[in-house]
Amino acid sequence: MAHLTFHSAGESHGRGCFAFLEGLPYGLPVDHPFLDAQLARRQMGYGRGGRMKIEKDKVEFLSGVRHGKTMGAPVLLAVFNKDLRLETAPELFCPRPGHADLAGHLKFDAPIRDVLERASARETAARVAAGALCRVLLREFGVEIRSHVVALGPVEPPESFRPGWDDLARADESEVRCLHAPSEKKMKAAIDKAKQEGDTLGGVYELVVQGLPIGLGDHTQWDRKLDGRIAQAMMSIQAMKGVEIGMGFRAARKSGREVHDAIEYARPGAGARDPAAGFRRPTNGAGGLEGGITNGAPLIVRVAMKPISTLMKPLMSVDLNTGEAYKASIERSDFCALPAASVVGENFLAFVLAQAFCEKFGGDSLDEMKRNHDAYLAYSNLPLAGGKTKGGASDAPE
Ligand SMILES: Cc1cc2nc3c(=O)[nH]c(=O)nc-3n(C[C@H](O)[C@H](O)[C@H](O)COP(=O)(O)O)c2cc1C
Repeated sequence: MAHLTFHSAGESHGRGCFAFLEGLPYGLPVDHPFLDAQLARRQMGYGRGGRMKIEKDKVEFLSGVRHGKTMGAPVLLAVFNKDLRLETAPELFCPRPGHADLAGHLKFDAPIRDVLERASARETAARVAAGALCRVLLREFGVEIRSHVVALGPVEPPESFRPGWDDLARADESEVRCLHAPSEKKMKAAIDKAKQEGDTLGGVYELVVQGLPIGLGDHTQWDRKLDGRIAQAMMSIQAMKGVEIGMGFRAARKSGREVHDAIEYARPGAGARDPAAGFRRPTNGAGGLEGGITNGAPLIVRVAMKPISTLMKPLMSVDLNTGEAYKASIERSDFCALPAASVVGENFLAFVLAQAFCEKFGGDSLDEMKRNHDAYLAYSNLPLAGGKTKGGASDAPE
């Protein structure tokens, strides 16, 4: 079987957004309604511009699926655009600060339009479609991803506010995906104010993943470490400027005792597999990753999004025809896309995790992957006998 890979194609106002996934196992039921639901979630949120009213995103499978199941072959997904004007959209001459406009224009010696059409976050529709399919694979192994907004512009719930896993299931009920009701109100007011002033806002969202086994990722080489791979994937989403795992930047200001997570072990009952048995962590400062490998605790990733770059009251720029100072060009635009970005983050994280899953349990078919997964779980729940933990304090008698 091939290594799981994802690539996208498509322009913002071209035929559509396309995702090419290679390496999915044979026999995965694709759950089409779930994929469409993820695309609909990406379109929502307080502070969006006019484009999301035009598009009604739906996934179409162009290859790799038969009778509703993956064929073990490359999968090509399409989300067709309704706002089709690639050939007729006006050229821009004043590059927008915060966009690829100027650097892309100079690098490719191309019109700004040719750059922005591909740089646009419309591409995230392809990521969500592909990521949602990866999420369907993860669900087969009991892995679930949730997210919520933890800061929007200057508004932040108090540090003591820590919603639980069940609370996170309700994040979609909030238009800003924030579970702290007083902050939610303030966040919407901040977006209203930014909109009035021709300005924009960003913020921070948190992703939480439950059900990951110990051992995804690899400590042996820089580009196999799962923390690095997650950071790269999240940073590659348009407008994401910071990624933290676990305590992240907060850990840097604390002592080791305050940050690291003690290790506990619960012996399994005799005979049958005991889900409560095995290694446990009473705290989770590491956010589920140590040495680039999952440690069995929930994975916690925080992602920072900068404010949207297109400003209705634009910053100054330069007219590329004259070299004279002029206001930056304007395109139809969101004022705040943080809630949608958190949905993109959820689904694109699923791609990275599915890739690590396929590496660890890889098989040509879903059934083979499940057999490998089950055998591994049985092994990792074994009592301490057998030598794998010999030589440490855990060898002490009961
Ligand atoms: C869901 C989502 C929606 C976005 N919508 C817009 C938008 O309407 N207008 C805009 O200027 N930027 C928008 N962006 C961000 C830009 O695409 C991004 O800032 C730009 O391509 C430059 O890339 P960089 O910020 O990663 O350097 C959006 C980003 C995301 C994730």
